[in-house]
Amino acid sequence: MKILLAGEIDAGWRRNLAAALPEADWAYRGDAADVAVVANPARGALAGQRRLGLIQSLWAGVEGLLADPTLPPGVPIARMADPAMSAAMAETALWAVLALHRGFFAYARRQREGVWQAHAQRRADEVGVVVLGQGEMGRAAGARLAQQGYRVAGWRRGVELAPLLAASEIVVNLLPLTEATRGLLDARFFAAMAPGSALVNLGRGGHVVEADLLAALDAGQVREAVLDVFAQEPLPAGHAFWRHPRVQMLPHAAAATDPRSASQVVAANLRAWRDGREPAYLVDRGRGY
Ligand code: GLV
Repeated sequence: MKILLAGEIDAGWRRNLAAALPEADWAYRGDAADVAVVANPARGALAGQRRLGLIQSLWAGVEGLLADPTLPPGVPIARMADPAMSAAMAETALWAVLALHRGFFAYARRQREGVWQAHAQRRADEVGVVVLGQGEMGRAAGARLAQQGYRVAGWRRGVELAPLLAASEIVVNLLPLTEATRGLLDARFFAAMAPGSALVNLGRGGHVVEADLLAALDAGQVREAVLDVFAQEPLPAGHAFWRHPRVQMLPHAAAATDPRSASQVVAANLRAWRDGREPAYLVDRGRGY
Protein backbone atom coordinates (compact mmCIF):
# COMPACT_ATOMS: atom_id res chain seq x y z
CA MET A 1 0.00 0.00 0.00
CA LYS A 2 1.81 3.07 -1.31
CA ILE A 3 0.72 6.15 0.65
CA LEU A 4 1.15 9.79 -0.41
CA LEU A 5 1.05 12.52 2.23
CA ALA A 6 -0.06 15.99 1.13
CA GLY A 7 -0.83 19.27 2.87
CA GLU A 8 -0.30 20.41 6.46
CA ILE A 9 1.34 17.26 7.81
CA ASP A 10 4.24 18.09 10.11
CA ALA A 11 6.93 15.88 11.65
CA GLY A 12 4.70 14.99 14.62
CA TRP A 13 1.97 13.78 12.30
CA ARG A 14 4.48 11.80 10.23
CA ARG A 15 5.83 10.12 13.36
CA ASN A 16 2.37 9.15 14.57
CA LEU A 17 1.25 7.94 11.13
CA ALA A 18 4.43 5.90 10.68
CA ALA A 19 3.95 4.28 14.10
CA ALA A 20 0.29 3.48 13.39
CA LEU A 21 1.09 2.08 9.90
CA PRO A 22 4.36 0.14 10.18
CA GLU A 23 3.52 -1.70 6.94
CA ALA A 24 3.21 1.53 4.90
CA ASP A 25 5.25 2.20 1.79
CA TRP A 26 5.51 6.00 1.73
CA ALA A 27 5.28 7.67 -1.68
CA TYR A 28 7.11 10.78 -2.82
CA ARG A 29 5.37 13.50 -4.77
CA GLY A 30 5.06 12.29 -8.33
CA ASP A 31 5.00 8.58 -7.39
CA ALA A 32 1.76 6.79 -8.27
CA ALA A 33 0.16 6.15 -4.86
CA ASP A 34 -2.64 3.79 -3.82
CA VAL A 35 -3.90 6.05 -1.05
CA ALA A 36 -3.47 9.75 -0.24
CA VAL A 37 -3.58 11.10 3.31
CA VAL A 38 -4.22 14.85 3.12
CA ALA A 39 -4.62 17.82 5.43
CA ASN A 40 -5.97 20.89 3.66
CA PRO A 41 -3.74 20.16 0.63
CA ALA A 42 -2.79 22.82 -1.90
CA ARG A 43 -4.90 22.89 -5.03
CA GLY A 44 -3.49 20.42 -7.55
CA ALA A 45 -1.65 18.32 -4.94
CA LEU A 46 -3.38 15.14 -6.17
CA ALA A 47 -3.61 16.04 -9.85
CA GLY A 48 -2.55 13.17 -12.09
CA GLN A 49 -2.77 10.53 -9.32
CA ARG A 50 -4.55 7.97 -11.49
CA ARG A 51 -4.08 4.88 -9.34
CA LEU A 52 -5.58 6.31 -6.12
CA GLY A 53 -8.15 4.10 -4.43
CA LEU A 54 -8.85 6.28 -1.40
CA ILE A 55 -8.27 9.85 -0.22
CA GLN A 56 -8.20 10.07 3.59
CA SER A 57 -8.54 13.59 5.02
CA LEU A 58 -6.98 14.51 8.37
CA TRP A 59 -9.44 17.38 8.50
CA ALA A 60 -13.06 16.93 9.45
CA GLY A 61 -14.17 19.63 7.02
CA VAL A 62 -13.49 18.69 3.40
CA GLU A 63 -14.99 21.70 1.57
CA GLY A 64 -11.54 22.94 0.49
CA LEU A 65 -10.61 19.52 -0.89
CA LEU A 66 -13.90 19.22 -2.81
CA ALA A 67 -13.42 22.68 -4.32
CA ASP A 68 -10.21 21.52 -6.07
CA PRO A 69 -11.14 20.93 -9.74
CA THR A 70 -8.03 18.75 -10.23
CA LEU A 71 -9.14 16.23 -7.57
CA PRO A 72 -9.16 12.80 -9.27
CA PRO A 73 -12.84 12.08 -10.01
CA GLY A 74 -14.62 9.09 -8.56
CA VAL A 75 -12.04 8.30 -5.87
CA PRO A 76 -13.71 7.74 -2.49
CA ILE A 77 -12.88 10.42 0.10
CA ALA A 78 -13.01 9.77 3.85
CA ARG A 79 -13.20 12.71 6.27
CA MET A 80 -11.67 12.66 9.74
CA ALA A 81 -13.83 11.72 12.70
CA ASP A 82 -11.44 11.73 15.65
CA PRO A 83 -12.88 10.97 19.10
CA ALA A 84 -10.28 13.26 20.73
CA MET A 85 -11.29 16.09 18.41
CA SER A 86 -15.00 15.58 19.14
CA ALA A 87 -14.24 15.64 22.88
CA ALA A 88 -12.24 18.86 22.53
CA MET A 89 -15.03 20.43 20.48
CA ALA A 90 -17.56 19.47 23.16
CA GLU A 91 -15.32 21.16 25.77
CA THR A 92 -15.14 24.36 23.74
CA ALA A 93 -18.91 24.37 23.22
CA LEU A 94 -19.39 23.86 26.96
CA TRP A 95 -16.97 26.70 27.82
CA ALA A 96 -18.72 29.12 25.47
CA VAL A 97 -22.25 28.18 26.55
CA LEU A 98 -21.38 28.27 30.26
CA ALA A 99 -19.67 31.67 29.94
CA LEU A 100 -22.61 33.08 27.97
CA HIS A 101 -25.23 31.63 30.32
CA ARG A 102 -23.52 32.77 33.51
CA GLY A 103 -22.42 36.13 32.07
CA PHE A 104 -18.69 35.51 32.55
CA PHE A 105 -17.80 37.44 29.38
CA ALA A 106 -19.87 40.35 30.72
CA TYR A 107 -17.96 40.17 34.02
CA ALA A 108 -14.65 40.34 32.12
CA ARG A 109 -15.92 43.49 30.40
CA ARG A 110 -16.97 44.96 33.78
CA GLN A 111 -13.52 44.24 35.21
CA ARG A 112 -11.91 46.18 32.36
CA GLU A 113 -14.35 49.03 33.08
CA GLY A 114 -13.71 48.89 36.85
CA VAL A 115 -17.35 48.04 37.54
CA TRP A 116 -18.28 45.85 40.57
CA GLN A 117 -21.74 44.58 39.79
CA ALA A 118 -23.30 41.12 39.90
CA HIS A 119 -26.22 40.00 37.78
CA ALA A 120 -29.00 37.51 38.49
CA GLN A 121 -27.96 33.85 38.39
CA ARG A 122 -29.96 31.32 36.38
CA ARG A 123 -29.98 27.56 36.26
CA ALA A 124 -28.71 25.66 33.23
CA ASP A 125 -32.12 24.02 32.76
CA GLU A 126 -33.59 27.48 32.18
CA VAL A 127 -31.37 27.96 29.13
CA GLY A 128 -32.27 26.59 25.69
CA VAL A 129 -29.39 25.79 23.35
CA VAL A 130 -29.74 24.70 19.74
CA VAL A 131 -26.85 22.86 18.09
CA LEU A 132 -26.78 23.21 14.30
CA GLY A 133 -25.35 20.06 12.75
CA GLN A 134 -25.79 16.53 14.03
CA GLY A 135 -22.55 14.95 12.86
CA GLU A 136 -19.88 13.55 15.16
CA MET A 137 -19.02 16.93 16.67
CA GLY A 138 -22.55 18.32 16.84
CA ARG A 139 -23.74 15.23 18.69
CA ALA A 140 -20.76 15.22 21.05
CA ALA A 141 -21.31 18.90 21.89
CA GLY A 142 -25.06 18.40 22.36
CA ALA A 143 -24.52 15.44 24.69
CA ARG A 144 -21.99 17.36 26.80
CA LEU A 145 -24.32 20.35 27.11
CA ALA A 146 -27.29 18.15 27.99
CA GLN A 147 -25.18 16.40 30.64
CA GLN A 148 -24.50 19.85 32.09
CA GLY A 149 -28.24 20.43 32.37
CA TYR A 150 -28.96 22.68 29.39
CA ARG A 151 -32.15 22.26 27.38
CA VAL A 152 -30.55 21.11 24.14
CA ALA A 153 -32.13 20.78 20.73
CA GLY A 154 -30.26 19.51 17.69
CA TRP A 155 -30.95 20.78 14.19
CA ARG A 156 -30.14 19.04 10.94
CA ARG A 157 -31.04 20.01 7.40
CA GLY A 158 -34.61 19.25 6.43
CA VAL A 159 -36.04 20.12 9.86
CA GLU A 160 -37.83 23.44 10.41
CA LEU A 161 -35.33 25.86 11.94
CA ALA A 162 -37.35 28.93 12.96
CA PRO A 163 -39.16 27.38 15.98
CA LEU A 164 -35.86 26.01 17.34
CA LEU A 165 -34.18 29.42 17.00
CA ALA A 166 -37.10 31.17 18.66
CA ALA A 167 -36.97 28.75 21.61
CA SER A 168 -33.20 29.01 22.19
CA GLU A 169 -31.01 31.70 23.63
CA ILE A 170 -27.73 30.21 22.45
CA VAL A 171 -27.03 28.87 18.96
CA VAL A 172 -23.98 26.62 18.51
CA ASN A 173 -22.98 26.07 14.87
CA LEU A 174 -21.24 22.80 13.99
CA LEU A 175 -22.51 22.32 10.45
CA PRO A 176 -20.32 21.19 7.58
CA LEU A 177 -19.75 23.90 4.97
CA THR A 178 -21.60 22.94 1.79
CA GLU A 179 -23.42 24.78 -0.97
CA ALA A 180 -26.59 24.31 1.11
CA THR A 181 -25.15 25.80 4.32
CA ARG A 182 -22.88 28.56 2.97
CA GLY A 183 -24.20 31.92 4.18
CA LEU A 184 -27.02 30.25 6.18
CA LEU A 185 -26.35 32.55 9.14
CA ASP A 186 -27.48 35.78 7.49
CA ALA A 187 -29.75 38.71 8.38
CA ARG A 188 -32.86 36.50 8.08
CA PHE A 189 -31.35 33.88 10.37
CA PHE A 190 -30.32 36.46 13.00
CA ALA A 191 -33.79 38.04 12.86
CA ALA A 192 -35.29 34.59 13.57
CA MET A 193 -33.11 34.13 16.68
CA ALA A 194 -34.71 35.07 20.00
CA PRO A 195 -33.95 38.76 20.65
CA GLY A 196 -30.78 39.15 22.72
CA SER A 197 -29.54 35.61 22.17
CA ALA A 198 -25.97 34.53 21.46
CA LEU A 199 -24.09 32.78 18.66
CA VAL A 200 -21.21 30.33 19.03
CA ASN A 201 -19.66 29.59 15.64
CA LEU A 202 -17.40 26.54 15.72
CA GLY A 203 -18.19 25.44 12.14
CA ARG A 204 -16.78 27.48 9.30
CA GLY A 205 -16.50 31.20 8.61
CA GLY A 206 -18.37 30.67 5.34
CA HIS A 207 -21.56 29.86 7.26
CA VAL A 208 -21.82 33.44 8.50
CA VAL A 209 -22.51 36.62 6.54
CA GLU A 210 -20.14 38.69 8.67
CA ALA A 211 -21.64 42.09 7.82
CA ASP A 212 -25.08 40.79 8.84
CA LEU A 213 -23.69 39.47 12.14
CA LEU A 214 -22.05 42.82 12.90
CA ALA A 215 -25.35 44.60 12.18
CA ALA A 216 -27.25 42.14 14.42
CA LEU A 217 -24.68 42.61 17.22
CA ASP A 218 -24.83 46.38 16.94
CA ALA A 219 -28.64 46.29 17.01
CA GLY A 220 -28.55 44.04 20.12
CA GLN A 221 -30.57 41.33 18.32
CA VAL A 222 -27.52 39.12 18.85
CA ARG A 223 -26.19 39.86 22.33
CA GLU A 224 -22.78 38.22 22.02
CA ALA A 225 -20.83 36.04 19.63
CA VAL A 226 -18.08 33.50 20.24
CA LEU A 227 -16.27 32.95 16.94
CA ASP A 228 -13.60 30.38 16.16
CA VAL A 229 -13.74 30.56 12.36
CA PHE A 230 -13.86 33.40 9.88
CA ALA A 231 -14.44 34.06 6.18
CA GLN A 232 -10.76 34.90 5.89
CA GLU A 233 -8.17 33.27 8.18
CA PRO A 234 -6.12 34.64 9.80
CA LEU A 235 -8.71 37.35 10.42
CA PRO A 236 -7.36 40.45 8.64
CA ALA A 237 -5.90 43.20 10.84
CA GLY A 238 -8.44 45.95 11.32
CA HIS A 239 -11.45 43.62 10.96
CA ALA A 240 -14.28 44.82 13.23
CA PHE A 241 -14.35 41.48 15.12
CA TRP A 242 -10.87 42.04 16.59
CA ARG A 243 -12.00 44.81 18.91
CA HIS A 244 -15.75 44.29 19.08
CA PRO A 245 -16.72 44.34 22.79
CA ARG A 246 -19.32 41.59 22.30
CA VAL A 247 -17.18 39.21 20.27
CA GLN A 248 -14.94 36.56 21.80
CA MET A 249 -12.47 35.19 19.28
CA LEU A 250 -10.45 32.01 18.97
CA PRO A 251 -7.88 31.54 16.17
CA HIS A 252 -9.54 28.44 14.61
CA ALA A 253 -8.49 26.52 17.68
CA ALA A 254 -11.76 25.16 19.08
CA ALA A 255 -10.65 21.57 18.46
CA ALA A 256 -7.57 20.31 16.71
CA THR A 257 -7.31 16.80 15.35
CA ASP A 258 -5.13 14.79 17.76
CA PRO A 259 -2.34 13.07 15.78
CA ARG A 260 -2.19 10.19 18.27
CA SER A 261 -5.84 9.11 18.09
CA ALA A 262 -6.38 10.31 14.51
CA SER A 263 -3.46 8.21 13.23
CA GLN A 264 -5.19 5.13 14.64
CA VAL A 265 -8.37 6.17 12.82
CA VAL A 266 -6.38 6.57 9.59
CA ALA A 267 -4.66 3.20 9.99
CA ALA A 268 -7.98 1.41 10.56
CA ASN A 269 -9.50 3.09 7.52
CA LEU A 270 -6.57 2.39 5.20
CA ARG A 271 -6.50 -1.26 6.25
CA ALA A 272 -10.26 -1.51 5.67
CA TRP A 273 -9.72 -0.19 2.13
CA ARG A 274 -6.75 -2.53 1.54
CA ASP A 275 -8.78 -5.53 2.73
CA GLY A 276 -11.76 -4.66 0.54
CA ARG A 277 -13.99 -3.44 3.36
CA GLU A 278 -15.81 -0.09 3.24
CA PRO A 279 -13.80 2.73 4.88
CA ALA A 280 -15.63 4.74 7.56
CA TYR A 281 -16.90 8.33 7.16
CA LEU A 282 -16.98 8.36 3.38
CA VAL A 283 -17.87 11.74 1.89
CA ASP A 284 -20.83 12.10 -0.47
CA ARG A 285 -19.30 14.42 -3.07
CA GLY A 286 -22.73 15.59 -4.23
CA ARG A 287 -23.86 16.46 -0.71
CA GLY A 288 -20.49 18.01 0.13
CA TYR A 289 -19.65 16.23 3.39
C1 GLV B 1 -10.72 21.73 11.14
O1 GLV B 1 -11.31 22.78 11.05
C2 GLV B 1 -11.14 20.52 10.49
O2 GLV B 1 -11.98 20.55 9.59
O3 GLV B 1 -10.61 19.44 10.85
